[in-house]
Amino acid sequence: MKMKKVVSMLLVAACTMGLAACGGSSDSGSEEDNTLVMATNAEFPPYEYHEGDEVVGIDVDIASAIAEELGMELKVEDMAFDSIIPAVTSGKADIGAAGMTVTPDREESVAFTDTYAHATQVIIVKEGSEIAGPDDLVGKTIGVQLGTTGDLYATDIEDATVEQYNKGFEAVQALTQDKIDAVVIDGEPAKEFVAESEGLKILDEAFTEEDYAIAVAKDNTELVDKINDALATLKESGELDEIIAKYISADSEAAAE
Ligand code: ARG
Repeated sequence: MKMKKVVSMLLVAACTMGLAACGGSSDSGSEEDNTLVMATNAEFPPYEYHEGDEVVGIDVDIASAIAEELGMELKVEDMAFDSIIPAVTSGKADIGAAGMTVTPDREESVAFTDTYAHATQVIIVKEGSEIAGPDDLVGKTIGVQLGTTGDLYATDIEDATVEQYNKGFEAVQALTQDKIDAVVIDGEPAKEFVAESEGLKILDEAFTEEDYAIAVAKDNTELVDKINDALATLKESGELDEIIAKYISADSEAAAE
């Protein structure tokens, strides 16, 4: 975080001194040098996560396929989830791709492309928990990842205490340690986190249904259109399904074809 600040300050300095090619327009500056900058939060397997020094996952593969369609080069910037929309609105990033759910609230600040995945919010509890469905969350302590839709929905539950964590997995760890009663999080990362932990289960009844899309600056309709065209191409060619199938086994997501 600090390092990034220093780098961007240096960049600003370099721009002022005319040392670097900084792009003339104020917004989406990175587009000019043919780089598509993607803001994400790599704490969300299988959509984005760390593999060694690299950020990999479904969103990274989709974004690089889109970049290829657009003749651009993808650059991934990992940041806190709640920094992604500000990064897009400020032009620091061209796109936000982070298993991001389309919500009316977010649509106030960014534009969304067509959706590329359907998702659910699920409830994770300890095996043997008395919580059997969404209704049992009343009055409970619920862990979420800060700024996510899980956070939003949990906050609406009557008398519930919401514990916000920077990473979804931290919420899951808190559950393992009995610090909280349940975690509300997206279904696919939930499966991965539960598989990595002991004594946890995902409740059958999903909490909500949602759709993921890529966030773009509101005024950048040109980029939205281009990405939608690229997405349509990837859907038609089957490449999108292939990318998803590479990360999600068919038994967990009945091959969406
Ligand atoms: N789908 C949820 C939302 O949009 C959670 C996304 C979290 N993504 C991430 N990369 N951490 O709020």
